[in-house]
Amino acid sequence: MRALDPTIRDIKELLEDLDSAESIRRYRSLVGDNGGGQALRRGGEEAHLNELLLMGIVSLSQMVDLLVEARREALPTPPPAAGRLEVPFVDLVAQHASIAAEIDEAISRVMRDADFILGREVDLFEREFAAFCQTDYGVGVDSGTSALELALRAFGIGRGDEVITAANSFIATAFAISSAGARPVLVDVDPRTSTIDVERLEGAISPRTRAIMPVHLYGHPADMDPILEIARRRGLVVIEDACQAHGARYKGRRTGSLGHAAAFSFYPSKNLGACGDGGMVVSGDPEAAEAVRRLRNYGQRRKYHHDTLGFNHRLDTLQAAILRVKLRHLEVWNAARCQQAALYGERLAGCPVALPQEADWAQSAYHLYAIRAADRDTLAARLRDRGIATGIHYPVPIHLQQAYRDLGYRQGDFPVSEGLAGQILSLPLAAELTLEQIGHVAESIGEFLALRNATPPVARPAL
Ligand SMILES: Cc1ncc(COP(=O)(O)O)c(C=O)c1O
Repeated sequence: MRALDPTIRDIKELLEDLDSAESIRRYRSLVGDNGGGQALRRGGEEAHLNELLLMGIVSLSQMVDLLVEARREALPTPPPAAGRLEVPFVDLVAQHASIAAEIDEAISRVMRDADFILGREVDLFEREFAAFCQTDYGVGVDSGTSALELALRAFGIGRGDEVITAANSFIATAFAISSAGARPVLVDVDPRTSTIDVERLEGAISPRTRAIMPVHLYGHPADMDPILEIARRRGLVVIEDACQAHGARYKGRRTGSLGHAAAFSFYPSKNLGACGDGGMVVSGDPEAAEAVRRLRNYGQRRKYHHDTLGFNHRLDTLQAAILRVKLRHLEVWNAARCQQAALYGERLAGCPVALPQEADWAQSAYHLYAIRAADRDTLAARLRDRGIATGIHYPVPIHLQQAYRDLGYRQGDFPVSEGLAGQILSLPLAAELTLEQIGHVAESIGEFLALRNATPPVARPAL
């Protein structure tokens, strides 16, 4: 038996006869207090893992996973084997290389004209992106978070107001509501789409509710018609958080054209990403667009005439020029993402993991491909060992974030979001990745699951 790097079989053999004092002694010498301690912290329990096993608190398969993981973490990461197929989560270097000449030309244009602040490229990009979203107005800002906040402010939403959003989103959705001065009110998500559960929406409305902020999470649109119908009946504003959904469609219509206004992020790894931060509010409402225009630029309508309080949230002209170039490629890039998603779907069908599903009315932009696996952390670790990067979006739902403890939510309030947090795993997916890389990821997952199935049963996560 190797003393420093136990295999699953080593540990299993050892644990088969756990009642014997000898095997406990051997287990301790194999794992060591340090490894056991790490595993324990991961298990979040107070007792030694051995005792937890004996008490039946952890299963043999969980224990094996924890131990192997703890050992692996204690060891230095091995260098990639020669010829091994590495799969990054996204590959912005490859993306840039594919359009470098166009980007260089766009940057030179801005530099040549020294047109840096709210220049012509910002104006053109606003028009082009609004048209892409099938809406009328676009106002470029410095991030998706600012876009969400300024969209709320443009509709007069602020202190004393409540805004309803999904418990499973990136924290910026809720932070934007708080920055506007309002209170985020959370609703659980629909397990089929991971977007706000429309059945629970009305129950969250109070006399203070002013807006609903559905999130088109992972690029999949929220079910907008019932949301808009509730909003119409209750006199509420609907601001789409479309930060992950450039080019997605709901019943044939583009996200961004569905609510009173929508916010997009151009964070570099988004489907349409800048070479830095950026965002945009799009809207069919000229007054809302004009209000955002003022708010992003010191509250001024004319230079040095400030109608309202406002800050500096402008979109950088260089970023706008770069984004104009990338917008020309977006449809093709999104099509590549859909093709990759289809390949995952095909190759992972029948595996004991839950795959993302598109609702009948949805065309996802596949910003992320988030599967659900009962033993997510071990799967992620095995993929990492093979040079495959993954992500978790998101490990802690908004209501359980420390920053929001004053909202008064508790564990158990949003069971679907909480369940997702423990199971979701985003697989590599980006236009620059090859189908060979995607196939390799699927194959590696299949191999891992086959190995797991050959031993203890693995629950298929409930949809
Ligand atoms: C759903 C969602 N909302 C808001 C944001 C905030 O966008 P940004 O990072 O550009 O501020 C993001 C970005 O990651 C997001 O994914």
